[in-house]
This record gives sequence, structure tokens and C-alpha cells, in this order.
Amino acid sequence: MLWDLAADTWGREERAAVARVVASGRYTLGPEVERFERAFAAYHGRRFAVMVNSGSSANLIAVASLFYRQKRPLQRGDQAIVPAISWSTTYHPLQQYGLRLRFVDVEADTLNIDTAQLEAALTPSTRAVIAVSVLGNPAALDKVRAFADRHGLAFLEDNCESLDAELDGKKTGTFGDLSTFSFFFSHHISTGEGGMVLTDDPELDGLLRSVRAHGWTRDVPPGALGGLVGVSPTPPGAGVSPAPPGTAAIDDRSDDAFAEAYRFILPGYNVRPQEINGAVGSEQLKKLPAMTKQRRANWRLFRNAFGTDERFLIQRENGKSSSFSFTMIVRPESGLDRNAVFKPLKAAGIGYRMITGGCFPRHDAIRHFDHDCLGSLANANMAHDRGFFVGNHPFDLAKQIERLRDVLDGLKA
Ligand SMILES: Cc1ncc(COP(=O)(O)O)c(C=O)c1O
Repeated sequence: MLWDLAADTWGREERAAVARVVASGRYTLGPEVERFERAFAAYHGRRFAVMVNSGSSANLIAVASLFYRQKRPLQRGDQAIVPAISWSTTYHPLQQYGLRLRFVDVEADTLNIDTAQLEAALTPSTRAVIAVSVLGNPAALDKVRAFADRHGLAFLEDNCESLDAELDGKKTGTFGDLSTFSFFFSHHISTGEGGMVLTDDPELDGLLRSVRAHGWTRDVPPGALGGLVGVSPTPPGAGVSPAPPGTAAIDDRSDDAFAEAYRFILPGYNVRPQEINGAVGSEQLKKLPAMTKQRRANWRLFRNAFGTDERFLIQRENGKSSSFSFTMIVRPESGLDRNAVFKPLKAAGIGYRMITGGCFPRHDAIRHFDHDCLGSLANANMAHDRGFFVGNHPFDLAKQIERLRDVLDGLKA
């Protein structure tokens, strides 16, 4: 294969980190994960980082935490505004927690949510907005932030595809009340599988830590949940009713160590990462600035090669992209059929795939969603029907981009 969609970015340091963990005998959530969490939070200038086993799990516990927070918790039946293009597990937790989704189109060139449509998408039951920076390219996160603040909405920023991108000098992943990341194999940094949630809110941090691990108190910093109910473990029937949905869980610690060790306060999961993921994450994070620099250099080569090719629409950079991959939409006016492009790409050993998850309402899973769409989602549909991407990697792709240019120059309309 000349140019694959994903590439291994682990070197000597990551392999040594794996060996260190294996030698330590401690495999699950522990000091290595905590070290990576601290470094990752510091890299973004945010207060709290909670690592999990995938970006999907990051989205899952982020949504859960918004349902259990004390002030203005989300409730079943609330509406969330979402972009029409993202990955499936941006949406699935929203469905699983009973939210109604309103899909808004993306901009044809940035592939990110069209913020000009946000006000029109608002209804009296809108309580949350989700923004996704697609494939390294920052969405207009400042505008989404202002929109959320104007209307008192929760803002969940799915940054799983755009680690290390920037908007006006501010990193993506620092705009949402909660911002999520993926460290899957093909992403900007890889821990094999892995994900992270960032927040500045101590209550959300406590909720995330509880929901991440069984819904227990063990990993929750004392006092993080506000000590709202202030009740220590109580025998059944002793007159304490469970906290109603939407009130923060009981988190005061009693001095009964036996009960505290297994004290469940929320309907949680087990989505903990392993120490290997944390140890590798710390090594990858050190390499991130250099990797982003190389990805951006490749992006400039790609843009020079195709920016003026009228047959294709390539992603317009908003802010500073960390360039996950190179998108191409075969313009309808080009007279080209997408399959006619795929054939020579395949023959040349160039990997290609759908842009993120395409236009999500086009997938069968949508039958299970309570949803509607604002308008026809024309741009998301165009990306779904006529778009594809090829990979970007943290090494020089000059030769591969040149080959792509040659292959596409050979196309006949
Ligand atoms: C926007 C977005 N959100 C969430 C995810 C899920 O991340 P993971 O594959 O780590 O579960 C992805 C994965 O690619 C993604 O692109």
C-alpha cells in the first residue's frame, strides 16, 4: 500500500512505556493514567481531565454527567442541536439518555456545523448543543460557545478528531463545558484505544469519575459533588429516600471504610482505561507538537496541489487545523463520478474512505432516534454522496501527494 488511511506512530519510547507497565504488575487505572491526565489537562490549560477507554466512552460519560449535575441537569425529552456530520458515537449516548436530536447542516467547505443556522434550530425545549471539529479543522467554537451562553445551553464539544487544533490561539477542546478526545489508533495521538474528557467544573469532574467506574465514590475527590445531601451510608428503610433524578448524588464520606469502599451513588459503567494506555499517552503527548507541525506541513502541500483544482472541493481551514486527513468532495459540476475516482486510487494503493460517518441521518440507526432535521442538510448529503478522505500522518507525505496529483490528473471527465 502506497498510502494507508492510518499509520503506527509508536516508537521506542512508547514500547518502553508498555514494558514499564508490564514490569510494574499494575495494569488498570493507576499512577500512569493519573500522570497522563494531569499532563493532558495542563497541555490544554484546563482544570480536570478524566481518561477512559475510548472517545465513545468519553462522549458517554460526558452526556451522563450532564444528567446528574445539580444545576440545570438535562432530562429525557430535552432537545439537543447536533451537526449532521459526525461519528456515530457522538450521537448514540444522546439517544441512549433520551434526548431528542435536531440535526443542523454543515458548511460545505469547512464541513463543520453551520453556526448561521443555530438560532433557527432553537426551540423552547433545546437544552444542549454539540459541536464537532471535523478532521482537525476547528468548528466556529467561539460562536457555539456564545450561542450556548446566550440561551443557557449545555455545550458538549466533541474534539475526538481535532486534538491540537486552534482557534484564535485557543486550543480546540477548551470551548465546551465538557470536551472529549479519542486516542484510537488512527488519531492525532494513539494509546491503542483511549479517550479523555476535559472540564473546568469540579462537580462534572466528580460525576465523570463516578460514572467511569461503576458509579461508585472511590475515585471521586471528596467534596467534588458538593456534599449536597450530606448523608452517610444508611440502612434500607431508615428514612432516606434516594436522590431524585437530576439532583447531585450523595457524596459525603462516612468514616465507615467498609461501606465506603463499595458505595454506589450513580448508574455508572466500567469504562476505565488501562495503565498501558496512560503510560503510552504520556509519551505520545510529548511528541504531539512535532507531529502536528508535520501534519500541517503535509496539509499545506495538499492544499497547494488541490486548492485550485475546480473538480474538487477541499476543506477550508478555519483557525489552525491539526489536519487529521485530507477531504475531497467531487463537485457535481465536474462531470466526474466518485466511483471513477475510487478506481484509480485503489489501483495506485491509496486508501480512501467516507468523511467521518457521513450524513448521520442517512444511516439505518436513525430509526432508533427521536429526531428532526433543520432543512434538507444539502451540504452534509453532498459530502456523504460525493466526498471521501485520504490519510494524513506525522511523516513527510510529499511523494504520496504527488502521486495522488498524477492519478487525479489522469482522470477523464
Ligand atoms: C467525532 C468523533 N467522536 C467520537 C469518536 C469515537 O472515538 P473512539 O473511536 O475512540 O471510540 C470518533 C472516532 O473516530 C470521532 O471521530
